[in-house]
Amino acid sequence: MNPAERISELTEKLNYYNQRYYMDSVSEISDQDFDLLLKQLESLENQYPDLKLPESPTHRVGGTITKNFASVEHRYPMLSLANTYNEQELIDFDERVKKGLNGEAYEYICELKFDGISLSMTYENSIFVRGVTRGDGVRGDDITNNVKTIKTLPLKVAAPRGRSFEIRGEGFLPYSSFEKMNSDAEAAGEESYANARNAASGSFKLQDSAEVARRGLDAYVYQFLSDEEIFTTHEESLIALKNLGFNVSPTWQKCTDIQSVIEYIKLWDEKRYSLPMATDGIVIKLNSIAQRAELGYTAKSPRWAIAYKYKAESKPAILKAVTYQVGRTGAITPVAELDNDKLNGKGIHLSGTTVKRASLHNANEIERLDLRIGDTVFVEKGGEIIPKVTAVDVSKRDMLSTQEIVYPTTCPECGGQLSRKEGEANHYCTNEKGCPPQIRGRIEHFIHRKAMNIDSLGEGKIELLYDKGIVNDITDLYDLTYDKLFGLEKVTEDELTGKIRKIGFKEKTVQNILEGIEKSKQAPFKQVLFGIGIRYVGATVAEKLASFFKNIDNIKNADYETLRTAPEIGDKIAQSIVEYFQNEENQIFIERLRLAGLQFSAQDEVKEIESDQLTGKTFLYTGTFVNFEREALEQKIEANGGKVVSGVSGKLDFLIVGEKPGASKIQKAQKLNVKMISEEEFMAMLG
Ligand code: IVH
Repeated sequence: MNPAERISELTEKLNYYNQRYYMDSVSEISDQDFDLLLKQLESLENQYPDLKLPESPTHRVGGTITKNFASVEHRYPMLSLANTYNEQELIDFDERVKKGLNGEAYEYICELKFDGISLSMTYENSIFVRGVTRGDGVRGDDITNNVKTIKTLPLKVAAPRGRSFEIRGEGFLPYSSFEKMNSDAEAAGEESYANARNAASGSFKLQDSAEVARRGLDAYVYQFLSDEEIFTTHEESLIALKNLGFNVSPTWQKCTDIQSVIEYIKLWDEKRYSLPMATDGIVIKLNSIAQRAELGYTAKSPRWAIAYKYKAESKPAILKAVTYQVGRTGAITPVAELDNDKLNGKGIHLSGTTVKRASLHNANEIERLDLRIGDTVFVEKGGEIIPKVTAVDVSKRDMLSTQEIVYPTTCPECGGQLSRKEGEANHYCTNEKGCPPQIRGRIEHFIHRKAMNIDSLGEGKIELLYDKGIVNDITDLYDLTYDKLFGLEKVTEDELTGKIRKIGFKEKTVQNILEGIEKSKQAPFKQVLFGIGIRYVGATVAEKLASFFKNIDNIKNADYETLRTAPEIGDKIAQSIVEYFQNEENQIFIERLRLAGLQFSAQDEVKEIESDQLTGKTFLYTGTFVNFEREALEQKIEANGGKVVSGVSGKLDFLIVGEKPGASKIQKAQKLNVKMISEEEFMAMLG
């Protein structure tokens, strides 16, 4: 047998044993023999590196070090799910589904909601090629080498060649691995992680994949995606994934009505604690893929699925103190510092995490709860990140040992005056230009992806630049030079893990920062307008303003009434814009940015208008087209005054039918008598 054949044979054998062991819990070979074969393979691969196969089990032991994970765009955005917390909300969801499907019969698949981190895994020509984190849903980090360490994830599958597809799933650290990891950390005098989810998230982001392999991460898969429509139901896809060797949790169940969904929820409320990892709810998904397409998506989540979150655990804690945080806008957030008498400074244990602080939102909330320092309060963690104080246990109150909470009148960060506008719940620090968190926050906002998109800078680097007195204001970014940046460094400690992190500006970092800043001068006006941080002017409002007013001078010169004539600009926004431009310092700030070369007019990005031939008409399309990509088709419709809608309804004027159209859209259009036109007919409408 030649080396290539032997390598291939060993790879196949080891993968088979691996699969049997981790997926079927069957050991067909002793650990010793397995290691022996693995060693043989390793040594052959070392001798003939070119012959190493992409699916080789030796990839799983790690060994690569990744300094910076590349950021990659998701082929299909990673959306989140809408949440429900009670039966009524579920029934409402079911009603919406029923209505959206116009009385067609439908089924649900219920799954557990695994509490880990979502992963996207891409396969090309049967081989696992890429593992990416969710990131912001549009872009994530490429953590392929770390994902390869998941033993239950097949590195090669028996799928037809030439077919690429993506698998979504939840990466997690089983409780057993989590406990081992924490006890190892404690033995080594390192800090332990607060919960398995944080530990999983930290582990997936480690630079050293060999260490990742030691941690023992796992993943459940729950979604199949590809350009072709391969499955007609979710159920089919789960069964096929299982047969291909993926780790599909067997806990899913098909339900034909919402009552059986509720029974599933009740069943798993208790039973889920017997599982090897954390779950925080269940996910209910429409089974038919065609029906999913009919219901479509909102901006954030599918209309065909929903998450039911199990009730948050509530625990008593002692309110030791109230501290005050200052945000980017100067808004003050009171924070409850919590403890349990027995835990002395260690917080309380809640739903598997250690909680030391909880948001109290604002002064009204403190009043509403009638809080006093020293009170016993109830704290709840709703699966979301920030815990809440829900009530005071008045029976435990002792007026002598508890003290009134006196809301501060000056800013805890800078000593500036606090003020509260009529009708607003929050107090604000008025020292806008001199309050450090406000300054840093404004810079962080400015570099945001939807603003100037300077991703070579981040919170830590900005803090460093601010602390060293190099960047005191957004405009200072445009005066940065190589010499000012090179060699700066800072050491920080991660609050949660206690790990030391060093930020140092070496040559490459400095170059990246300077390039990012230079590139930001080309960012379109709408992004600049969002970036300068006028209160209430979010990304969408900035876009509306930019396309309506075209440039900054028009906005600056517009009075309140004129501003109100712009689409979707209400009283609060118009008022805030007027106030912003009345302030001379803001005007100087904008002039400085203009001098730096930023875009303050929208010439290039005004949506092209070709005609008004489609005005008043609504369109939807299905399938693929000869002359247009989807986006170009939408642009064409809009450029000619038409509107693109998200689903087939009786109100739809035209369904444009391309090649390989979606069957459900066609059926629905036929049923509702919607006019269907071909791509050519659409072109003819435009003359
Ligand atoms: S399906 C369009 N199924 O929950 C979203 N998600 O808020 C499709 N999750 O980011 C997701 N268990 O990380 C789905 N059985 C399951 C899940 C699940 C956990 C996570 C996932 C997602 C988040 C949704």
